Amino acid sequence: MSNTRLLTSSIALTENVSAKNRLFKSAMSEQLGDKNFAPTPQLVHLFDVWSKGGTGVLITGNVMIDRTALGEPKNVVLDKKSELSLFKQWAEAGTQNNTQLWMQLNHPGKQSPKFLSTEPVAPSAIPLAKALQSGFNTPRALSEKEIFAIIEDFAFAAEKAQETGFSGVQIHGAHGYLVNQFLSPHHNRREDKWGGSLENRMRFVREIYQAIRLRVGNNFPIGIKLNSADFQKGGFSPEDSIQVMKTLQEDGINLIEISGGNYEKPAMMGGKVKSSTEKREAYFLEYAEKAKEVLTIPLVVTGGFRSASAMEAALKSGATDMIGIARPLAVDPNVSNKLLTNESHKIHLKTLTTGVKTLDFMAMLNITWYEHQLSRIGNKKAPKPNMSAWLLVIKTISTIGLIAFKKRRA
Ligand SMILES: Cc1cc2nc3c(=O)[nH]c(=O)nc-3n(C[C@H](O)[C@H](O)[C@H](O)COP(=O)(O)O)c2cc1C
Repeated sequence: MSNTRLLTSSIALTENVSAKNRLFKSAMSEQLGDKNFAPTPQLVHLFDVWSKGGTGVLITGNVMIDRTALGEPKNVVLDKKSELSLFKQWAEAGTQNNTQLWMQLNHPGKQSPKFLSTEPVAPSAIPLAKALQSGFNTPRALSEKEIFAIIEDFAFAAEKAQETGFSGVQIHGAHGYLVNQFLSPHHNRREDKWGGSLENRMRFVREIYQAIRLRVGNNFPIGIKLNSADFQKGGFSPEDSIQVMKTLQEDGINLIEISGGNYEKPAMMGGKVKSSTEKREAYFLEYAEKAKEVLTIPLVVTGGFRSASAMEAALKSGATDMIGIARPLAVDPNVSNKLLTNESHKIHLKTLTTGVKTLDFMAMLNITWYEHQLSRIGNKKAPKPNMSAWLLVIKTISTIGLIAFKKRRA
């Protein structure tokens, strides 16, 4: 009986803001910024298509808060040098059809590749794992003055997101970027008030949240994407993560999205999972059940959801309030409408491999193949869900050359 489905029901996100259904498009870095790091018409078109696709909340790909700290080439940046007119067009396109459009704000910290950062910054001067060191320079530890400047940059970007018509913002606190680096005892070895105890390690994210709240007021939704765990020795643990969520909830944050992993351990993209996880599709549901014990604000679980029935079951079980999906929306921007109208809809994603493991890794197929689909949609072409991995590799080399294979992200 479709009228009892939770997936199609609306949900309150703040006292005054609600989402029209439970589908939440998780961030996918589109890499559709121009040479001044402004949104391009292609990016505007992509969100025009997505906002017509039925999803309740659209999160943008990560927008950097400082043009001297990029995570990827062609990032969009919103900082004091940004020209705001294209941001307004982007917001207009993405909020059609009563869609919530939240801008994801990010600083990469040490996860900024060598060809973009000669000297990336981080809480402490700890390099990434050996396997990544050919692609990423060892970072330098931030001074306290610089920490405050970054907090101000997050607040500035959020204020401009609000001013240009976005419906909310999401702090990127997951996947090994700067906020996550501060939270991790492995990456954060500081001995001042920004490191050490969990209270100190979470000071950075709390200050960012509070600075944003001061600028945008109480009615503008602020969310965070947070790791359930980093899945690495000495990293941010599930226990720490629950405590951070609880604290941010007390501080007044409106929504939490759960993911996991980082460039060193890319758990957010799946891989080998337990058979119980395989059945429920989503990678982080077990953890979400624990998070739910302390949370009253909306929770989103992202990673692995592929069928309307598993989504409905997750909502009914009470483990999550919204369903985060990313890759399915790159190959079918209308997939939310299908999931909402057909309770047996299933998404089939092609297994991506060239058959040569090293090449798959070097080409970062799990990311680049999807980026290519986003660029097709932005250029008003239909995505190609069956495009071969080899074709992507050949196309990439012919357009940007071997630089494509320099390590640039997970
Ligand atoms: C091309 C691509 C770009 C991504 N960029 C981001 C990003 O900018 N910010 C982020 O939080 N996650 C990013 N992710 C991760 C997704 O938001 C999501 O967590 C992950 O793909 C798992 O969800 P899925 O199984 O529904 O795809 C990206 C994923 C892909 C495929």
